Amino acid sequence: MKVDVLLGLQWGDEGKGKVVDVLTPKYDVVARFQGGPNAGHTLEFEGQKYVLRSIPSGIFQGDKVNIIGNGVVLDPALFKAEAEALEASGHPLKERLHISRKAHLILPTHRILDAAYEAAKGDAKVGTTGKGIGPTYTDKVSRNGVRVGDILHNFDQKYGAAKARHEQILKSLNYEYDLTELEKAWMEGIEYLKQFHFVDSEHEVNNYLKDGKSVLCEGAQGTMLDIDFGSYPFVTSSNTVCAGACTGLGVAPNRIGEVFGIFKAYCTRVGAGPFPTELFDETGDNMCTLGHEFGSVTGRKRRCGWIDLVALKYSVMINGVTKLIMMKSDVLDTFDTIKACVAYKIDGEEIDYFPYDINEGVEPVYAELPGWKTDMTKMQSEDEFPEEFNAYLTFLEEQLGVEIKIVSVGPDRAQTIERYTEE
Ligand code: GDP
Ligand code: IMO
Ligand code: MG
Repeated sequence: MKVDVLLGLQWGDEGKGKVVDVLTPKYDVVARFQGGPNAGHTLEFEGQKYVLRSIPSGIFQGDKVNIIGNGVVLDPALFKAEAEALEASGHPLKERLHISRKAHLILPTHRILDAAYEAAKGDAKVGTTGKGIGPTYTDKVSRNGVRVGDILHNFDQKYGAAKARHEQILKSLNYEYDLTELEKAWMEGIEYLKQFHFVDSEHEVNNYLKDGKSVLCEGAQGTMLDIDFGSYPFVTSSNTVCAGACTGLGVAPNRIGEVFGIFKAYCTRVGAGPFPTELFDETGDNMCTLGHEFGSVTGRKRRCGWIDLVALKYSVMINGVTKLIMMKSDVLDTFDTIKACVAYKIDGEEIDYFPYDINEGVEPVYAELPGWKTDMTKMQSEDEFPEEFNAYLTFLEEQLGVEIKIVSVGPDRAQTIERYTEE
């Protein structure tokens, strides 16, 4: 068997959580491969809304095994809060959530370092989620990290050494902080974590594949936030792209099957950094209001703009996307005209490929299409799609060279339409 991968093609918040939940019945296992509680994955069904941060989005459909892979960074305090809330709402996890021993722990001092580094950057700050993501991955790569498996082996010594090193850095930055509350909650989280199955997820996933079981890998963030290929330095600190599923779970590249690339019918970004198609006008405000574009976890207002096909084409290439999924189509229901960026103008020259640097001087070149002016939220099948909506889909498919297999027309699990069902 192969693993299928679902990941974001833009700057995150494309709707990954919703679609993982919708697709879960087709799989035996769902596994997160990178990121941490910087993610906020929203699911809605039966009038309930859930936001997941570290726990995979396959947790609500039957008793499927969900895995937190080695590529994930885990904050025990936030994990405890998330897991306890799920248990309280009638979704017990302990037996079916497995956590890689090789996943790195986000320490309380990592969160403080995140804030200190952001403060030191001043106007150039990244606008991180403040969850300690960058400092934790930094320690992983510099071989100073503390892993989930360390909880059961010489933990006090490993934690103490890492904390002491972080406190030295904070002192050198003259950064004032109080660790007491954070550390207390974190230690409670460590105790709580011990009830879960710690696994070698690379063995587990490969054994599932050998046994003919199907696995869906869930990405966090999006391709434009990838540490290598995103809009550096305004990115997150992990590989959000498809290759991240190989390193973040221990899956060989030739085991990758379908790659589901997910995007909004427009585009959003939260935090600082370049965004060529960003709108600062009434249209952008309408996208924000109609799309409820506020961070799932932080509540921060998301910046909104038209779809960027230059960036999307790049994302499709980097990830080897085999199937596209378009989200939040309904948000554009009332628009007279839909614009799509098909090229960038830089220094008067038009280019249609994603350049080294989009930090300055990029002017989007737009194609315009008529809006569909129809309420999409009640649609049940693609037969009901208005002509203009189909024209938008066809235009995007031609530009991106990949078929759009799923269209989402509202936040609820049920508001999801699969296309080309004859396949
Ligand atoms: P993720 O991080 O990729 O899982 O996405 P988020 O959960 O952060 O953000 C997506 C938001 O859009 C959530 O509030 C979803 O409930 C909502 N959403 C998902 N699909 C649709 C859709 O098709 N239409 C509308 N209006 N909202 C959607
Ligand atoms: P999901 O999985 C949107 C952004 C932050 C910031 C940058 C670095 O819900 O799509 P970090 O805390 O990771 O060091 O912040 O990345 N960011 C996200 N934006 N969705 C996310 O996750 C994000 N996770 C991080 O806003 O610009
Ligand atoms: Mg999100």
